[in-house]
Amino acid sequence: MKKPVRVAVTGAAGQIGYSLLFRIASGEMLGKDQPVILQMLELPMEKAQAALRGVMMELEDCAFPLLAGMVGTDDPEVAFKDADVALLVGAMPRGPGMERKDLLMKNAEIFTVQGKALNKVASRNVKVLVVGNPANTNAYIAMKSAPDLPAKNFTAMLRLDHNRALSQLAGKAGVAVADIEKLVVWGNHSPTMYPDYRFATVGGASLKDKIGDESWNRETFIPKVGKRGAAIIEARGLSSAASAANAAIDHIHDWVLGTDGKWVTMGIPSDGSYGIPETVMYGYPVTCENGEYTIVKDLPIDDYSREMMNKTLAELEEERSGVAHLLG
Ligand code: NAD
Ligand code: LMR
Repeated sequence: MKKPVRVAVTGAAGQIGYSLLFRIASGEMLGKDQPVILQMLELPMEKAQAALRGVMMELEDCAFPLLAGMVGTDDPEVAFKDADVALLVGAMPRGPGMERKDLLMKNAEIFTVQGKALNKVASRNVKVLVVGNPANTNAYIAMKSAPDLPAKNFTAMLRLDHNRALSQLAGKAGVAVADIEKLVVWGNHSPTMYPDYRFATVGGASLKDKIGDESWNRETFIPKVGKRGAAIIEARGLSSAASAANAAIDHIHDWVLGTDGKWVTMGIPSDGSYGIPETVMYGYPVTCENGEYTIVKDLPIDDYSREMMNKTLAELEEERSGVAHLLG
């Protein structure tokens, strides 16, 4: 039997937590032979802690053979203790009349505290995925608050956008999702993101050529993927949860177990590739092997793509300057 992997999940009693924890415990994220210990963080309020206790009772009632232990807590230093994987899902939701800037500030406080706790107690190899919005900037804040951990260990979730784009493309081209390769979503997890299928292939042939219709790309596909989160909120009255949890599982699964040469999108601290300033938490095409991701380099960037990539970069830089004073 393998040694258990410690997986910390914040916001564990929330909607995404409820779709996520059971799949992690059943082995869908790290493999059907990999035991896990779930270390779950919730707010100290009794309502949140009671809900967490309920989730833990349900996890117990599943009798998952791979669930080697559970911790439920309101203390980040307990939740992140020796964590090998940390899924930062819990965040302050946008309330009525709240501006994006207010949301940014509230979350900046949360992710500063959590970054510091990770820095202090997590495994030095911890793989961190930030799901809570604004995901890229929250990941940036956590990374900056954890100076003793490698910056490359901090990532933001663009995988839901990648998966959304895959399904739209498969539908348009009349092909199977599984047959599409080499897709990327550049930039921020926000409506400014740039889903880009210029390099995508189906059975080795160009997907762009197969679709042919550039006005569909610009007028339908890009806005539809960018605004999909809002469309789900409009339809459900709640933000996406099962698909978000699914994307988090895909992200960590591929990072840990590899992509076999296939491209996936991860929000990662830029190394300067494609002219994106270093450390900006930006969606890039990557491949993963042996627990490390590598940016797909040297893709040609045409004028339209550069404009789109700069637009989403400008938003990230604005968010970053909005929280700079908190990061010292
Ligand atoms: P939710 O409100 O149902 O659950 C969030 C949970 O986090 C709550 O139980 C809350 O008590 C808890 N929480 C809040 N602050 C916390 C803190 N400081 N420490 C620990 N727990 C805390 O929300 P949800 O639907 O699960 O969504 C969670 C976040 O994920 C939101 O920010 C949402 O916008 C975001 N999201 C991101 C993506 C993405 O693709 N990146 C997709 C969907 C949702
Ligand atoms: C999503 O993409 O579904 C989430 O980030 C929710 C949102 O606010 O768009």
